Amino acid sequence: MRVARSRAELAQLRPELTGRLGFVPTMGALHDGHLSLVEQARSRADAVAVSIFVNPLQFGPTEDFDAYPRPIEDDLARCEAAGVALVFAPTAADLVGTDPQVRVSAGALGTVLEGASRPGHFDGVLTIVLKLLHLVAPDVAVFGRKDAQQLACIEAMVADLDVPVEIVGAPIVREPDGLALSSRNAYLTPEQRADAVALSRALTAAAWETDAEGALRAGRRVLAAAEAASPWVATDYAALVDPRTFAPVGADHRGPALLALAVRVGSTRLIDNRLLELTGP
Ligand code: PAF
Repeated sequence: MRVARSRAELAQLRPELTGRLGFVPTMGALHDGHLSLVEQARSRADAVAVSIFVNPLQFGPTEDFDAYPRPIEDDLARCEAAGVALVFAPTAADLVGTDPQVRVSAGALGTVLEGASRPGHFDGVLTIVLKLLHLVAPDVAVFGRKDAQQLACIEAMVADLDVPVEIVGAPIVREPDGLALSSRNAYLTPEQRADAVALSRALTAAAWETDAEGALRAGRRVLAAAEAASPWVATDYAALVDPRTFAPVGADHRGPALLALAVRVGSTRLIDNRLLELTGP
């Protein structure tokens, strides 16, 4: 496995990879969810590249940028074991520079739900993802569906800016009790870890319903019960939206709708989602 620690090293190593290249951008702290993205990339390409970069542009001023885990040696070992051909792990000084002027805007898609809670977050994601796509030049790039709004922003960017890459969304990987894998799960205490199962339970409850109001009500009921039972749980939002535009769906909506959740468990903010197929009231 080759490791490029700067854009210059990447430019030297990238030509060694011939054939179709799959790419998995990450912020490190790799878990089985990331490795499932590597598997998805491998099944669509001859070689896989992974980037490991904790992107300062996507953290708000009060967010956990400095505290974000950076177990780089473990991450490299996991990539090696997963058969990754190339890891791009630049420094922020190298990749972002000291005074960048231009940002990619996610537009309206970047201002709702996660974007409303985290102003500028998706602009920061898109700016770095576009740079990574330019530098790594993959044929196909794989992103997890857990970050559904991020995936929608990236799909919109690639379509609107004619970025020559295929984008693939990979299924959410869950613990046996339903909790979606996330690097942030490591912050949960054992009690909070038990409470965190409320998110996937809310999604499962909603999936039994056939209309928008019933689905939202069922999901919110599970979250309200978790809030009542635990000092740690506080729902940020539970929204039923169009999976492409993230605009709320109406009560008589028929067809696919994404139930998106953000819930604080202690000081950790968890997100999860599920695509529902509604048949209407
Ligand atoms: O999903 C992530 O880990 C990040 O948002 C990404 C896509 C690597 C961009 O920094």
